[in-house]
Amino acid sequence: MIQVCRTQEELHKTRQAHGHVGFVPTMGNLHQGHISLLSQALSDFDIVYFSIFVNPKQFGPTEDFDKYPRTLQNDLDLIEAEVKKHTHKQVVVFAPQTPDEVYHGFSKTIKVTGITEILEGSIRPGHFDGVTTVVYRLFDLVKPTKAYFGLKDYQQWAVIKKMVQQEKLDIEIVGMPIKRSTEGLALSSRNQYLSDKQKQDALMIINTLNEIKKIIAGKKANLALAQDYIRTKLEDKNWDYLTMRDYLSLSEDLKSSQQITILAVYRMGTTRLLDNIQVEIQ
Ligand code: PAJ
Repeated sequence: MIQVCRTQEELHKTRQAHGHVGFVPTMGNLHQGHISLLSQALSDFDIVYFSIFVNPKQFGPTEDFDKYPRTLQNDLDLIEAEVKKHTHKQVVVFAPQTPDEVYHGFSKTIKVTGITEILEGSIRPGHFDGVTTVVYRLFDLVKPTKAYFGLKDYQQWAVIKKMVQQEKLDIEIVGMPIKRSTEGLALSSRNQYLSDKQKQDALMIINTLNEIKKIIAGKKANLALAQDYIRTKLEDKNWDYLTMRDYLSLSEDLKSSQQITILAVYRMGTTRLLDNIQVEIQ
């Protein structure tokens, strides 16, 4: 069963009737990546809250806020199809019609430091302030026990984990594996901006990440070799970054790391494609 709330008041009323709930925050234009988060949440909880809100605070002035696809009916159909696979489960969709429906009664900005200035944060100044502010606000409205995020937006997951710690919120943050096309391209709402040829070419990103993982072969001693390989790759100036980081702090210092994440952003025309891969090292 699915219920849609369009206002903060409706959401508030509905929430009062429920105990522990799972939560999946999204900006809509759903694909199977988002649905994989919902599927896990429905396995863990009888009632799952799911938000669809294109949050203006996390878009820069030259970014695609106006152009971001809004496809509510299609999104609801995908959610409905997923709920049907889980018996006796319920999804409450919060789809506010205006930003005011989210933000009225709330004027704080939630900032996390130390991890938001690098990588995406250095390319998109202010982006993570917008993300932590909206996620904090949505957590406050939904009061979930667990919230589900995709590791596709790896730094976002790390930032949210840090935000929850900093703000002392009693919410478990679950990081879900990246859903890919059968060929290996990480699913993203922004993939629809790509031509078929660009989608094919974009497979180079995951191939590069896999190649770096192969060079490391689980050994810290091979990181220098991997770094040499990355240097040759970066001669292609379309990489915003291609970098090995500690999996949690995102620091470049890997001396005491046992798990690292290789993060990549490659520009295809005006579309930025994010991907990453995890590597254990000894
Ligand atoms: P959005 O881009 O809609 O993504 C919603 C969630 O789906 C995020 O946690 C994202 O990491 C996850 N996701 C996207 N593509 C995925 C894939 N291929 N595999 C697995 N998970 C995937 O991220 C946001 O919205 C916003 O910043 C938000 C957190 C909602 C705050 O506004």
